[in-house]
Amino acid sequence: MGSRGSFYMTYGLCVSSGLTCLIMVVFWNWRWRGGFAWDGTEAQFNWHPVLMIAGMLVLYGLAAVLFRVPWGWSHEKRTWKLLHAGLMLAALALAAVGLHAAFHVHSTLNIPSMFSLHSWVGMSAVVTFAWQWILGLLSFLLPCSAPLLGRYMKGLHVWTGQAVLMLTLAACISGINEQLSFALDGVGASAYSSLPAEAIFGNMLGILTVVFSTLVFGILSKANWRRPAANTNEEAAPILLREETRP
Ligand code: HEM
Repeated sequence: MGSRGSFYMTYGLCVSSGLTCLIMVVFWNWRWRGGFAWDGTEAQFNWHPVLMIAGMLVLYGLAAVLFRVPWGWSHEKRTWKLLHAGLMLAALALAAVGLHAAFHVHSTLNIPSMFSLHSWVGMSAVVTFAWQWILGLLSFLLPCSAPLLGRYMKGLHVWTGQAVLMLTLAACISGINEQLSFALDGVGASAYSSLPAEAIFGNMLGILTVVFSTLVFGILSKANWRRPAANTNEEAAPILLREETRP
């Protein structure tokens, strides 16, 4: 199989595992955790895992590998840079609503905030992501961004981007584990250790988040799946450059 064939196969697996994560987290909360509402109760909290997995994991991961899709190489890179930035902003917005859901429920039910390792790792992921987006805007998007800055920042941007995904994965695994322990332990026969259906389902979701992230890291690490003509002037030029100054 050629390089394109193996890319599309890996990309197909990546997209389908991401979508399956999304379906599974919705199903888990609908089937076993009481469904969804926005009323300050546990049902509002259920939006937290759904929105965090949708935004920080799936949308973020797919936006990160966007430039690797050969179908887009014949189009102007500027369009793809804007789409990349737009999808990342949408991911950040979903994460902000997901965090609000958790903080709001904690405050209405008088549950302490930011005590767990999960919340610390998760907050590090979101804060790093927000800074990453702002730095990306300053380095690659604004008309005043210097091409030299763009070239210098690119390596750091790619590296920080992968660090955010790593932190997100750690937050997803610890969050799923924490939710299963809170929900199942102390409820007699359905204790986590007796592996009821919900625990098996949640563990499988956790494994699938690892599969999805591994596929994203795999796609990003393959040098011959990069968009050709990297390191040209177009590569480093600010996205919103005025027409007359575009290389
Ligand atoms: C990138 C993904 C995630 C991030 C950034 C994240 C972040 C956070 C933060 C900052 C809190 C603290 C809220 C507060 O103190 O009021 C929290 C709470 C919580 N999250 Fe997540 N979360 C993520 C994914 C998940 C997932 C997938 C689950 C799975 C069910 C989950 C379950 C929980 C639970 C049970 C709490 C309440 C207990 C605690 O504060 O640790 N989270 N999360």
